[in-house]
Amino acid sequence: MKPVFVLLVSTAWTFTGAQYYYQGLMDYLENRLLAIEDRMQFWHKETHRYHAEAKDFKKLTAEIVAGLRTEHSELFKDMEGAAVRADRVEREMDYIGIQTSPRACVNKADKVVEQGVWGLEESRGEMEGENDWEEIRSQVSDCTQIISGIRSVKILKRVGGPQGMWTRDPRSSRVYVFNGTSGDVIHQFDSVQDFSHSAGLTGSRQIRLPFVWSGPGCAVHNGYLYCIKHESGADVQVVKYDIVSGTVTDSSMFPVDSPAHVYSLNPEVVADLAADDEGLWLLYAPSDSEPNINLAKMDPAMLDIEEIWDTGCPRENAEAAFVVCGTLYVVYNTRLASRSRIQCVFDVNDVVVSEEAPLLYFPRRYGAHVSLKYNPEEKQLYGWDDGYQIIYRLTMKRKLLV
Ligand SMILES: *[C@@H]1O[C@H](CO)[C@@H](O)[C@H](O)[C@H]1NC(C)=O
Repeated sequence: MKPVFVLLVSTAWTFTGAQYYYQGLMDYLENRLLAIEDRMQFWHKETHRYHAEAKDFKKLTAEIVAGLRTEHSELFKDMEGAAVRADRVEREMDYIGIQTSPRACVNKADKVVEQGVWGLEESRGEMEGENDWEEIRSQVSDCTQIISGIRSVKILKRVGGPQGMWTRDPRSSRVYVFNGTSGDVIHQFDSVQDFSHSAGLTGSRQIRLPFVWSGPGCAVHNGYLYCIKHESGADVQVVKYDIVSGTVTDSSMFPVDSPAHVYSLNPEVVADLAADDEGLWLLYAPSDSEPNINLAKMDPAMLDIEEIWDTGCPRENAEAAFVVCGTLYVVYNTRLASRSRIQCVFDVNDVVVSEEAPLLYFPRRYGAHVSLKYNPEEKQLYGWDDGYQIIYRLTMKRKLLV
């Protein structure tokens, strides 16, 4: 009986021991699980926090970027404004510069008369007026007037394209409009008034020419049209056309083989023709390497070239030029159209001296001149400015006779 009891007791003990053992294990595992759960919960919370923070950060960054962007555009706008202001200041400076610079530059007039001698010269001129007149007559030009100012400006009309020219024949009072930079058609009006009242170019008499004029560089003089003819591959010519009979009466070869554009701001103008009281003048550049405008006096009847001068007036930044009384006036501007001004004067007789060279400053306009044509009878300029037809009235004074 005793061994059975012992076995039972030992079995019970073993059973109870195992139970305890398993219980402990379970507790241990449960604790571990709880700890893991806690950790998981903690990580979950952390991830959530990180996520939220990342979201906030992203939002913040977006706001900052947007702010930077508007600031940048504001800065850009400010800069643009500053650029415009700088441009305006530059123009004003330009204007002041012109106003304060005593005279336009005069070339070939080496005889710079000193201020004190001036009155003397003038009184001498009055005393020996007859003799001076004789002297002038023997020179190339017998005209004794120079421009002293621009009295008025009249914007008459806007017809045609940005480029072109218009002029009036002093003999017939007829107005001729050349639209564009080349063509074989010109428009004729009976008078400036007629042109002013017309509906565009449709009310004109169209004249079809037997040749193609090139660049707005023609001139009308005593019923004749003088034009530059420059067909590709062919030589450059000056053509004389009788408007009444409708025939080409004469033509002559250009004095050089490969002329370059005469004004750097108007490259369409191969060469320019100007008519004044003295006759016909050709303005051109002999080659691309020649920096100055050359002037040739032409015989309006036969188109012979009588004399050629290097005027010393640079082609750079020149937009147009015209001749009054044997004196060349070159008009300059800037590439970004500013205010046109006469900055170079050349007198073929070498009579105009620096002190009396006109200081001409064109009134504020729409842009830049494509052409300026002088009418000796009315003493006014016919200008073409971005399709606007403008008349400038000039005031004249007598040249000092030295
Ligand atoms: C004038 O010339 C411009 C081009 O420069 C052209 O567009 C326009 O149609 C022309 N007008 C007339 C009436 O010929």
